[in-house]
This record gives sequence, C-alpha cells and structure tokens, in this order.
Amino acid sequence: MPAMLEERIISRRLLPLLKPTFWRAVRRAQKHSMVSKRRMQNLWRLMWRGVRAGVSGDYVELGTARGGTALLLDAHRRGFPGGAERQVWLYDAFEDFEPCFARYEDVRRLLFDESDCDPEAVHLVRGFFDKGLATRPPRPIAFLHVDAGGYEGVSAGLDLVWPHLSPGAWLVFDNYGVDEGCRRAVDERVPSGLHRFGHTQAYTMAAREP
Ligand SMILES: C[S@@+](CC[C@H](N)C(=O)[O-])C[C@H]1O[C@@H](n2cnc3c(N)ncnc32)[C@H](O)[C@@H]1O
Repeated sequence: MPAMLEERIISRRLLPLLKPTFWRAVRRAQKHSMVSKRRMQNLWRLMWRGVRAGVSGDYVELGTARGGTALLLDAHRRGFPGGAERQVWLYDAFEDFEPCFARYEDVRRLLFDESDCDPEAVHLVRGFFDKGLATRPPRPIAFLHVDAGGYEGVSAGLDLVWPHLSPGAWLVFDNYGVDEGCRRAVDERVPSGLHRFGHTQAYTMAAREP
C-alpha cells in the first residue's frame, strides 16, 4: 500500500477497522455479548490507539458476564505487536451477583475450552470487584473496560484499579449513559476530559506523566 494512503488511513483511525482480525473477533464476541457492534468498534479503536502510542500494560475488564467483550480484548491482545507481553484480567461476581448474568463455569469453558484463550495470559477472576481486585490485583493497566452498573461496585472497582493505570491508558465506561450509579462513580473520579460515544459509552485517557 502506498505510504501516503496508509498514513491517511491511519490518521482517520480506520486501520484497525479494516483488519479482518477485527471483524472475526466481533463476529465471535457478539454471540456472547450485550455490547453492540458499534461500541465494540470503539473499544477496538481505543485499544489500538494505546498500542500505537506505546502504552504498556494489561487489558482489564470489570464486568465480564458471558465473556463476549472478554473475547474481543483477548483477540486484540493477540492481534497486535507486543501482545505476548500483555495479559487480560477479567473480574466478575458471576453467580454471586443478583441477577445472575452468567455462570463462572460456562464462561471458563467458553474462554479456555471452546476458544483459544491462553490460561497463562487470560485470568478469569470470580468475586465482587473489591474482593477479586484485592486478592488478584492487576499489573499496570493499558486499557480498562468497565461494563458494570451500581455506584458501590463501580466505585470500589475504580478505586482499586486507579493506582495501576499506566500513563496514557484508555478507560471505557460502558454503562455510563444508562446507569445512574456508574455515572456518579465515574463523574466523581473523572471531573473533566470525559468523551461520550453513543447513548451509553463514555471514555477518557489516564493522565500522562508531565
Ligand atoms: C452488563 S454485564 C457485562 C457485559 C459483558 N461485558 C458483555 O460483553 O456482554 C455486567 C456484569 O457485571 C457484573 N457485576 C456487576 N457489579 C459487580 C460487582 N460489584 N462485582 C463483580 N461483578 C459485578 C455482573 O455480574 C455482570 O456479569
């Protein structure tokens, strides 16, 4: 591809969406997810911006349910340079959450038996965010996907992941537009620089070092 054309595609942020990896990952993820294709495109685009900017660290998800967006995060990790050094950390209370969105064993089977997630690189942590993050704390975080609602849960989760955010990490809050508790927890911690995407998603970037 001529360099000028490639540069134009990159500058329009279209490159990650043109990749067959992306479409394959979305098709697979959508079978197990409540997140729309458009919102998945935005997740992919932001993970890709992190890779392009050289942000180091793992991918972390608070709220995994049936494992759809978890598959997307792992497909991105494996699809880009440096993926072997990254890990994916997935936190959810599964059966302990009311109402139950998904059973731990079903999600474990989906990720590790029916998909090709590497158990050395993908960690499915069962428990409420405060317990899960305290017992299995993440390493530096390059990308955070918060897909849960409720003020207390989201606040507890954010407080525990905040110190681990790499400078320049992207944070996506999938329930921001539809869950008052999530919105309040985010607004208290992100007083400015929050972008909206569609009706429900909001995202921001962790402060870069001066
Ligand atoms: C909207 S679903 C996640 C959707 C998923 N990312 C997808 O691709 O469809 C929200 C999940 O967050 C979990 N959850 C909500 N609050 C939680 C908390 N405080 N601790 C742990 N898990 C929680 C629920 O069990 C549920 O599975």
